[in-house]
Amino acid sequence: MWVAGGGEASRIFGSTPNPAREWGMPDPKSVLAERLQVGFDRLEPGADPVLRASDRADFQANGALALAKRLGRSPREVAEAVVAQVDVADLCDLVEVSGPGFINLTLSAPFLASQLSAMAVDGRLGVEQAVEPQRVVVDYSGPNVAKEMHVGHLRSTVIGDSICRILDFVGHQVIRENHVGDWGTPFGMLIEHLIDLGEGAVEELSVGDLDAFYRQARESFDTDQTFRERSRRRVVLLQSGDEETLALWRILVAESVRHYDAVYEKLGVLLTDDDIVGESFYNPMLAGVVEDLRGTGLLEESDGAQCVFPPGFENRNGEPLPLIVQKSDEGYGYAATDLAAVRDRVERLGASRILYVVGSPQSQHLQMVFAVAHMAGWLPEGVDAVHVAFGSVLGPDNKMFKSRSGESVKLDALLDEAVERAATAMAERESDMQAVDRAAAARTLGIGAVKYADLSTERHRDYVFDWDRMLAFEGNTGPYLQYAHARIRSIFRRGNVTAPDPAVPVTLVDPDERSLVLQLLGFGEAVAASLQATSPSKLSAYLFDLASVFTSFYENCPVLRAPDDETRRSRLVLSDLSARVLAVGLGLLGIGAPERM
Ligand code: ARG
Repeated sequence: MWVAGGGEASRIFGSTPNPAREWGMPDPKSVLAERLQVGFDRLEPGADPVLRASDRADFQANGALALAKRLGRSPREVAEAVVAQVDVADLCDLVEVSGPGFINLTLSAPFLASQLSAMAVDGRLGVEQAVEPQRVVVDYSGPNVAKEMHVGHLRSTVIGDSICRILDFVGHQVIRENHVGDWGTPFGMLIEHLIDLGEGAVEELSVGDLDAFYRQARESFDTDQTFRERSRRRVVLLQSGDEETLALWRILVAESVRHYDAVYEKLGVLLTDDDIVGESFYNPMLAGVVEDLRGTGLLEESDGAQCVFPPGFENRNGEPLPLIVQKSDEGYGYAATDLAAVRDRVERLGASRILYVVGSPQSQHLQMVFAVAHMAGWLPEGVDAVHVAFGSVLGPDNKMFKSRSGESVKLDALLDEAVERAATAMAERESDMQAVDRAAAARTLGIGAVKYADLSTERHRDYVFDWDRMLAFEGNTGPYLQYAHARIRSIFRRGNVTAPDPAVPVTLVDPDERSLVLQLLGFGEAVAASLQATSPSKLSAYLFDLASVFTSFYENCPVLRAPDDETRRSRLVLSDLSARVLAVGLGLLGIGAPERM
């Protein structure tokens, strides 16, 4: 065993903080990992220290076990050798080798206090800026014209939006693209239906029942031979750029965009009309896509359609799968548009990363598009295209979430219901708020609950849409986190104190203070982990842990009635920083953090 640091004396820390941040990153785990790496490198360059949080100490490094196996030595001996090589005296009170060869590390209070002060005075709360900022295109939301947005679009919209916020926060240049389905064969029937309904149809559409409009058009198409013929001719007119047809098409698009805007506004997402780059945008580029694919010899004719067969994609019978670029009727489909979009994003926008926030069922389509784009040279080395896939929203019966009549659930109505339910839930609780503030808080709470339920689920997983669960004030929910934030703010209101200067040194005596500091210092790592996994769920999990750790702190460590002034000031700093991290963290999820509830 090897003991570093000043033992007891250093547990009580009240002297000079470390504004110079001589340890670099605030997150102690990264600092420790860097130091340990030196010791591991001496034995085998690049050997992973395998450092993780531990309940035996603050952190535990388990890398000696795997390394010992490779070196054919005893793991304990390897662990001792690593420990002998690393100097963490300024970071740790205690470093010990335990069990088969674990390295247990207990951080010193001065180190923690100093890192905390550095984080508290930092406007970015210790979140590192990207070393190499990238230009990232995020393709998300993607609703379809003349159809209501449904829960599938909810997922894409809220996950994509949070990813944009996180990317932006760490300094990447984000280009949001809303790949709206505004082109293709259904528009023949939709336009003909609009003509049949006549003048008044536009107002009827404004009522917002896009789905009914679509259904009626579909029904005429299915039952009426002449309507079907008209629809086919109309598609041709649309594609050839007939002005009258385009004018009717624009009416449909505009009404649909109004509908999305209403939903985006309710959701509080970043998307604006300027982010819409619909399928129609790529229409003029599609012939070029086909031509260039033909030029490179990738195009093959199959059943009259122009296809590319990217290697590695097979159907159930083991036959090669085609990506159909141009159909036998010469029309272009979804795949051609996506190929044109990849090209445009790389060539015109200069993207070095393209994220597709699209449901898992489209995985094969996107993988094939990426493969063909690679083959054609449109996705050069150094440009990543990534499918940020997500699972389904399920109903209480564990099947796809549907309304009682079996239709897909309309997002707009769902969000209204969320706000109503939040208002009801709030009415059951005591509050010192005015009615107007309460209405605003109900919106923040209801929408936050829906978003958080979605974002806190690891995105590949399906989740059950459950009002009671997502609106609960206890458990891993939006309201719990918002309430935790408001409660901290209420400490300051009740005590009639303003937040202290963040540079005030903190004293870490109580174990709950220590746990809170450790948790706070992990914020940067949580943001990085969310980006790494392109999954806001990592950040959600971190914030939930923070709220829980803060709750134990607050139960055990009186803040306003702390034993002495120094402790009170220190605890106020910790409380204020906790609220700031909650607010910024929720903000990165696109969720509001009300001052009071
Ligand atoms: N409109 C599509 C849908 O509703 C989503 C578009 C996704 N983006 C893309 N580039 N394919 O499923």
